[in-house]
Parts: sequence; structure tokens; C-alpha cells
Amino acid sequence: MKNVTIIGAGTMGNGIAHVFAQFNFKVSIYDLSENSLESALNTISKNLERQIKKEKISKQEKQSILENISTFTNLKESVLDADLVIEAATENEKIKIDIFKKLDQECKKNTILATNTSSISITKIANSTNRPDRIIGMHFMNPVPIMKLVEVIRGKETSDNTTKLVMNLSKNLNKIPVEVNDAPGFVANRILMPMINEAVLTLEQNVSGVQEIDTVMILGMSHPMGPLQLADFIGLDICVSILEVMHNDFKDKKYAPSKLLKKMVKENNLGVKTGEGFYNYSKGIKDKTVANFFSK
Ligand SMILES: NC(=O)c1ccc[n+]([C@@H]2O[C@H](COP(=O)([O-])OP(=O)(O)OC[C@H]3O[C@@H](n4cnc5c(N)ncnc54)[C@H](O)[C@@H]3O)[C@@H](O)[C@H]2O)c1
Repeated sequence: MKNVTIIGAGTMGNGIAHVFAQFNFKVSIYDLSENSLESALNTISKNLERQIKKEKISKQEKQSILENISTFTNLKESVLDADLVIEAATENEKIKIDIFKKLDQECKKNTILATNTSSISITKIANSTNRPDRIIGMHFMNPVPIMKLVEVIRGKETSDNTTKLVMNLSKNLNKIPVEVNDAPGFVANRILMPMINEAVLTLEQNVSGVQEIDTVMILGMSHPMGPLQLADFIGLDICVSILEVMHNDFKDKKYAPSKLLKKMVKENNLGVKTGEGFYNYSKGIKDKTVANFFSK
């Protein structure tokens, strides 16, 4: 496996591209938006600069990592040579199914098509293609260059061969893969999102303030970051989408996104990516907890 295409150049897409390029894969990134592609390259370059400062890579390595990456606004061109495609576009079932139908048409017959979805059924996505045995969930965590886990999700028809390949590939990227079965939110978000939603409800019902809620969870539960700040990092729109998928699929109102979370998304206060969420990021990521997290 040598050529990897990433669909979507947002928070996750640029991180996934960074890691593959660092491990010497030829990486193509496709997005509808030129701006997203441009800012993905800027983010990758800044994060590589950080790795140079920490003496994890050299200046020459930064250059060759960047040379491994090409960007595209034409889907067909971006997947011509792809051995593996990882879809990391917006968390929306219709968008993803549409992308997978096109990928199935445009990619080589044996190309493995993975999705970084946080919650949408892998089996449903696989059923929109003619290669359900080669469709799999490859759920990286944010920030991708730092976080070790890859949740590897098998759809109903994902083959043993595809699973083995993706598990081994994840290990070769210096990650730790964990195999899970297909269910709404899989393991990570089934547990995480109700906690984030409950933290927002606690704020909404004025039980305490933003920093106080996060401090309780950091100091009291030894979490490296509070749930409200974590929501800012994930993106509040992504949190709402994941909760809605779980709410619809489990038909249980305990997963319904809180009013405050939905209001913040409506007002485009999405967290780090728009500069404003539960915290303000217009002057960069100042908060100590987060700074510590990123300096690891
Ligand atoms: N943000 C997180 O912490 C996190 C963690 C794990 C998984 N995920 C999942 O990763 C995926 C991407 O999330 P994100 O946070 O990077 O989102 P994002 O909003 O930062 O980026 C999404 C990107 O997809 C692009 N896009 C939208 N429709 C497209 C299409 N049809 N074709 C190509 N590109 C398209 C957008 O232009 C944008 O650049 C989602 O499925 C999300 O659930 C997110």
C-alpha cells in the first residue's frame, strides 16, 4: 500500500494526511473547497514546525513530508492510484453515502474504502457500494498526529482480509487499533457524547460555570481535558450530528442534543474551528490544560 487519498480537508482530514505523509505514503487530499485545502496545508506545515521544535523531525524531513502531499478539487483525479481511501468529510449520512457511491465508481476494484465517521453505520455506507467486503471504519482521534487510538469498525460484510490489513496498517502508523462492531457511535462516542451532552445540560441548568464544570472533571476524574473544552476541540456541529445519529438510531431521548448545544451551532459558535465555543480562541489556544495536552 503506497497511495492514500483523504476525502475532506477539515480538522480530521489534515491530521490523517499529516500522519500518512510522515510515514512516507503518497497522500492526495480531496475537498470541495479550495480554502479548506489551503488551510489544511497551512495547519500541517505549522504542526510539522512544532515537531521540529520538539526535535521529533528535522527540517529536511518536514520538506519531504510536505512533498508527499498533493491536493485536489476533482474527486476522480484524486483517487486514480489510490490503494486506500479514507473519507473524513462532514458528519452527514447523505453526504457520506453520496461520496461512497462516487468512490465505488472511480476507484480501482481492489481499493479499500474506509470512513472516519464518528457514528454513522458502516454497514449502511457499505450497502451503497458494490464492495461491502472492502468497506471499513477507521476512526482516528483528534489531534491525529498525537492520539494513539484507531477504532477499527467492521460492517456486517467487512472481510477478515480488509480488517487485518487496516489493523496492521494502523500499527505501521505507530497507532494502536482496537476492533469493534458496528453500532451507533461505536464505542468511543457512545460513551463520550452522552458525557459531553450532560456537561452542557449541567451548564444550561446553571448548576455551575464552564471552567468549574471542566475543573471538576479534570481534577476529580483525572480527565486530561474538561468535557466542554473537548467539545470545542471536536467541533460542536460534529457533537450535535453524532448525538442526532444516536438519538435516531437508538430511538432513546437520552441521546438528544441539549438546547444550548443546538443554539451554539445555529449561531456558528462551533469551538476552536470558528474561534468561539464554550471558550474563546481568538487569541489562540491559551488555556493551560490544552497547551499541556499539545506539548506532549
Ligand atoms: N472533529 C473530531 O474531533 C472528530 C474526531 C473523530 C472523527 N471525526 C469525524 O471525521 C469527519 C470529519 O470531521 P471534521 O471534524 O474533520 O469536520 P470539518 O468540519 O472540520 O471538515 C469537514 C470537511 O469536509 C469537507 N466536505 C464536505 N462535504 C464534502 C464532500 N462532499 N466532498 C469532499 N469534502 C467535503 C468540508 O469542505 C470540510 O473541509 C466526520 O465524519 C467526523 O464525525 C471527527
